Amino acid sequence: MGEESCGQTENTEVSAMRFQHVLALETSCDDTSAAIVRADGFVVGCISANQDLQHRPFGGVVPEIASRNHTLQILPLIEELFARTKFSAAQIDGMAVTSRPGLIGSLLVGVVTAKTLALIYGRPFVGVNHLEGHLLAPFLRDEKYTPPEGFTYPYLALAVSGGHTTLYHVKGLGAYEVLGRTVDDAAGEALDKFAKVVGLGFPGGARVDEAAKQGNAKAFQLPRTMRNEDSLDFSFSGLKAAAVRLVESIPPEQLMQKTADLCASYQEAVVDSLMYKLDLAQKNISNIKRIVVTGGVSANSRLRAVAAEWAQARSLQLVLPPLRYCTDNAAMIGFAGIQRLNRGESADQRLAPSSASYDEDFTASRFALHSARGKT
Ligand code: KG4
Ligand code: ZN
Repeated sequence: MGEESCGQTENTEVSAMRFQHVLALETSCDDTSAAIVRADGFVVGCISANQDLQHRPFGGVVPEIASRNHTLQILPLIEELFARTKFSAAQIDGMAVTSRPGLIGSLLVGVVTAKTLALIYGRPFVGVNHLEGHLLAPFLRDEKYTPPEGFTYPYLALAVSGGHTTLYHVKGLGAYEVLGRTVDDAAGEALDKFAKVVGLGFPGGARVDEAAKQGNAKAFQLPRTMRNEDSLDFSFSGLKAAAVRLVESIPPEQLMQKTADLCASYQEAVVDSLMYKLDLAQKNISNIKRIVVTGGVSANSRLRAVAAEWAQARSLQLVLPPLRYCTDNAAMIGFAGIQRLNRGESADQRLAPSSASYDEDFTASRFALHSARGKT
């Protein structure tokens, strides 16, 4: 069981809304998560159960194991959420569930659970794009965290996790322009694969981060790909291949002694590649003064430090949501969902999970920089 927070404060704007509280479910990959979220983004409670131990022996997420675990965990998690928050089903005005994109078997567990509970509770529900959740995470608040003063739309968001590495221009609720994305591996995936090659295990991103603290980032030369100014896309497969060749060239008996330097050099190349495109996007999109970095890789201590320094030097407002809202969680799905419910949207029992986003979820996917200049 993971993060949890409970509590309520008076909010007159919220009490005027039809949907004041939603129950939200997230099961798109290997985290099972349930949350109760208020219309202003206040997280009444959020409980998550990760499955790292179950997937670790296989060195990656096994879809069948993920969906089976969601099935086992989801109802006890919801019961625990109600118990901890002292909320009852009668206080829930609607439901939100991640319906896309993700592992289809995993998504199915959340969607079927939401549809069933919606029938039992007699409440409306809505399907939410998982990435919209990540993009709106910076607005979440709880008893320990409030977003920085003045934070609002529009902003530039770098969503960087095990499954995604995408730059968005977030203009408002439902108005998300994809500026660039990885053309191959996600940054988290590249970190995880590297961790496996150097023998750090799964999931390896946090272990690379830890090992890198003792290493020299200049010890090994690794490539920075996509250093072109006419695209905001990323690529990590060249870096990964170069790192694998490098590791293979090191005699096994020397590997342990060089792990910290290898991790520091590799991590630096990933952070450099992310920051290069973030900087390019910020420079080329006028009036963007607010920046969000979100997703599991935003936990990386080097990325956080470099991004903070970069933002400060340019007088930009940088928002790094707390880690509990950066990694996969149901609270972000609840906040996206409750706003959609309050503007009149809802799904019906025909809602089916989709492994891909819908076309209408984002505009201009694979957005080229030269066209971004003309449009913004
Ligand atoms: O957002 P997330 O929890 O799940 C996905 O949607 O993928 O992100 C998981 C990713 C994994 O690749 C993991 O290795 C990486 O985030 N990660 C990190 C760190 N903590 C987690 N990567 C680098 N440094 C970290 N401290
Ligand atoms: Zn995610």
